[in-house]
Amino acid sequence: MPRADRGPAGASFSRVTNSEEFERTPGGAVIMDGKRLRDEIVAGIRTKLDGLGNPAVCLATVLVGDDKPSQIYVRNKHKKVEEAAMVSRHVGLPADVSQGELEAAVTDLAQDPNVHGILVQLPLPEGLDAERVLDLLPPEKDVDGLTERSMGRLVRGRDGHVPCTPLGVMRLMERYGVETSGKSAVVIGRSTLVGLPQVLLLGRKGVDATATLAHSRTTDLAAVCREADIIVAAAGMAGLVTAEFVKPGAAVLDVGISRTADGIQGDVHFESVQAVAGAITPMPGGTGPMTIGCLMENTLSAARMLGALPG
Ligand code: GUN
Repeated sequence: MPRADRGPAGASFSRVTNSEEFERTPGGAVIMDGKRLRDEIVAGIRTKLDGLGNPAVCLATVLVGDDKPSQIYVRNKHKKVEEAAMVSRHVGLPADVSQGELEAAVTDLAQDPNVHGILVQLPLPEGLDAERVLDLLPPEKDVDGLTERSMGRLVRGRDGHVPCTPLGVMRLMERYGVETSGKSAVVIGRSTLVGLPQVLLLGRKGVDATATLAHSRTTDLAAVCREADIIVAAAGMAGLVTAEFVKPGAAVLDVGISRTADGIQGDVHFESVQAVAGAITPMPGGTGPMTIGCLMENTLSAARMLGALPG
């Protein structure tokens, strides 16, 4: 169906620039390409640092145990740090590390003036208390935005780091011209990593969406979602969001990731939804790369907050 026939699509995408033609799905939805935007962010940081005389901006990662997906995530983060002309440090600890040893390692990084951002890869192996570890991070170095102090700053509208995945969703919507002011948004999933901060970001002054937090107990989720101009699916339930959840022309962003017998799947049933939506994130290549892009952005702003950038 051509875009013009999709009712509110025009209204949702009035900020899409005429000068740029975005790629679309076979059904006509704009593809919100997270890889492309991440690469733009990384290249922009590289250029900025070059202009500042290449100060050594450092992201430290802490990985406990030998979980394969976590190892891959951390490796990918280091690759992008290098591409952004920043430097990284890695602390790998065995799965049987004690709480005290882990806390000592994180404290060392927290006190090291050459380290600007710290990321403790989650989840930690069973028996370790992640909250106590995260509480050791100074807010300036908390580039994941996950500590109580960073979350408190977000709630109170103060400057601080915002969790990378929901920030990545906001950046994608900005880049692809998804209008938010006065629009209705439904976020599915109430995790502290994504759903809760996502609702806060959507409702912020200047963004001005009317954001609803839906979850596993929401009555008639499909009907709630059908009212929305923007859907952010972060439930971790493969294929949950189908065409019947989506108002024609709505923007649909998939944050879910599930390992199934058929491979890694998102929360959004891409095939059916792309025929109805006005814009959609691919999976993979949508919100995942943006999490890393925003981690790079947060690391740069950590260095700025700590006075480590000239000028
Ligand atoms: N594990 C999965 N996603 C994330 C993330 O965004 N940050 C951290 N620290 N761990 C994760």
